[in-house]
Amino acid sequence: MTKETLSNLLKENRRFDPPPELAAHANVTADAYAEASADRLAFWERAAERLQWDEPWTQVLDWSNPPFAKWFVGGKLNVAVNCVDRHVEAGRGDKVAFHWEGEPGDQRTITYADLKDEVCRAANALTELGVNKGDRVAIYMPMIPETVVAMLACARLGAPHMVVFGGFSSDALSTRIQDCDAHFVITSDGGYRRGNASALKPAVDEALKSCPDVRNVLVVRRTGQDVDWTEGRDVWWHDVVDQQSAEHTAEAHDAEHPLYVMYTSGTTAKPKGILHTTGGYLTGVSWTHYEVFDIKPETDIFWTAADIGWVTGHSYIVYGPLANGATSVMYEGTPDTPDRGRWWEIVNKYKVTILYCAPTVIRMFMKWGEDIPAKYDLSSLRLLGSVGEPINPEAYVWYREFIGGGRCPVVDTWWQTETGSIMISPLPGVTAGKPGAAMKALPGVVADVVDDQGQSVPDGGGGFLVLREPWPSMLRTIWGDDERYIKTYWSKFDGLYFAGDGAKKDSDGDLWLLGRVDDVMLVSGHNISTTEVESALVSNPKVAEAAVVGASDPTTGQAIVAFVILRGDGAEGGDELVSELRQHVAKALGPIARPRQVMVVPELPKTRSGKIMRRLLQDVAEHRSLGDVTTLTDSTVMDLISEKLPTAKSED
Ligand code: WT7
Repeated sequence: MTKETLSNLLKENRRFDPPPELAAHANVTADAYAEASADRLAFWERAAERLQWDEPWTQVLDWSNPPFAKWFVGGKLNVAVNCVDRHVEAGRGDKVAFHWEGEPGDQRTITYADLKDEVCRAANALTELGVNKGDRVAIYMPMIPETVVAMLACARLGAPHMVVFGGFSSDALSTRIQDCDAHFVITSDGGYRRGNASALKPAVDEALKSCPDVRNVLVVRRTGQDVDWTEGRDVWWHDVVDQQSAEHTAEAHDAEHPLYVMYTSGTTAKPKGILHTTGGYLTGVSWTHYEVFDIKPETDIFWTAADIGWVTGHSYIVYGPLANGATSVMYEGTPDTPDRGRWWEIVNKYKVTILYCAPTVIRMFMKWGEDIPAKYDLSSLRLLGSVGEPINPEAYVWYREFIGGGRCPVVDTWWQTETGSIMISPLPGVTAGKPGAAMKALPGVVADVVDDQGQSVPDGGGGFLVLREPWPSMLRTIWGDDERYIKTYWSKFDGLYFAGDGAKKDSDGDLWLLGRVDDVMLVSGHNISTTEVESALVSNPKVAEAAVVGASDPTTGQAIVAFVILRGDGAEGGDELVSELRQHVAKALGPIARPRQVMVVPELPKTRSGKIMRRLLQDVAEHRSLGDVTTLTDSTVMDLISEKLPTAKSED
């Protein structure tokens, strides 16, 4: 992108100061920025010192062979001990680690003492099955407590886990198992989704046809449905775990020992196995969980409403909250089962104080209408978080108002699977929030926006988001492919980490994320971000959600084509509305950003992690047959959109 980005045209002047009560007792104050810039490594050392180390490090950062970082060199620790045992040893064994809520309404309360026993049993069972330090273990599970237990048992043994989201296909599972050469799989018969038991084990059986090196499959019984059984390979969790001793002596692992591999989807290319290691990762997630969510382990009830199969779940359901001794809610199912009030019922039931979720869900709640959350007492909430994509200003304001009762700050947190933990976010006790802005790099993180040449852009300018300095929870490489690691992240700009996102700095120097750089459109020589046009559309009260693509156009190079979902069930579009929306965007962003076409659609194509698949919409807009739809959550969505095509308006 260039300076021509329509940066400051989207006029967003609303500001929300931190609540005085929160600011007065915030875990982190404004001083943190100064402290970190005075001595960044000393700042991260203090963050690492919050953990329990068996051996101290001798060097904070070894960056002698960039981009291959080593953090806390020589230090040793055990992640599971840090997340579980040390809280029990400190007399907090009775504290609840998880309030788990199954979709059908079953519940389990798991204390830190319970978790310690279960993790030790599972570690003993894995050892008995022949899992050794360094072996990769694939985990393909629903959102049940055993998933956390399995991850921590692997971490305890130093066997890197590789969690595959339970919604992924057997193909996705087998490619990932092959890529990291895992010989063990942990799964379950199934889980509950939208009111039904949905099976997982058959996908494992299918995947393993092409993974001959897998020796054992450990199966948790969740739904009780029938499963095919391969004797000698398959073992029931309750047969091998329950009988084990709850004692297990944990070994301290090197700070740079691999903790896990998590594959990023990669919409076109082969998925990348992102490698995270022990000491730096745990430092990053525990510190940012403390700093950004202002966690008070004694009183807060924390809920990351995401799946453990994504990095958000790894960092902010499992490792961050547990390292801090916090109490979390974990929910198995979807927000609409048995009805659209389910999340708010859960918030009220467990008196959730901090909620962390994605803009895509927030926009879905907007579409359903504010009457639904209004039926529930949500007064326990004190802080709200957003992650996964840019949050449109209207969605931010709606979230703050109708979920947060106008009193809860919203932290818009930018990060990636690769960064391991949050990099850019407001600090809830310090920052006056701007709807739609992720604001500033956290203390100790050095972010910038640069132009094509890698030069820092001035305030008011737009370009590529980069990170200038290594950080503890950074990926160490792509599993088995150092070259690709260098090429993907460190080659576009010399010495800078290239995130792949477009961003702009406003006149105060605050950061606004603009989506993946691949999603930037070039209209008559102007770079226009899909995010900005989408936010302009969503700022019209009739629009719940919008997706924008650039379609090739003989006169303008690319022309803007917008797909919108209207607010309220059954709302219909029409010529008048379409021209109103085109006008609305032109008014908000300038005539150059007026969409050539606006199509009212019932749904948008999303990946299973909730990201809009603009590539498919572009196929529609350019009248091509659809590309690969296998990562879509719901493949019927594209039929629904194609049916709508005749109503599209394109005259000017
Ligand atoms: C990409 C990373 C971070 C955990 C979930 C996604 C986008 C993420 C934000 C945000 C704008 C965001 C970026 C990023 N993204 N958070 N707050 N504002 N964009 O992890 O699947 O690795 O995706 O998600 O484009 O690069 P991921």
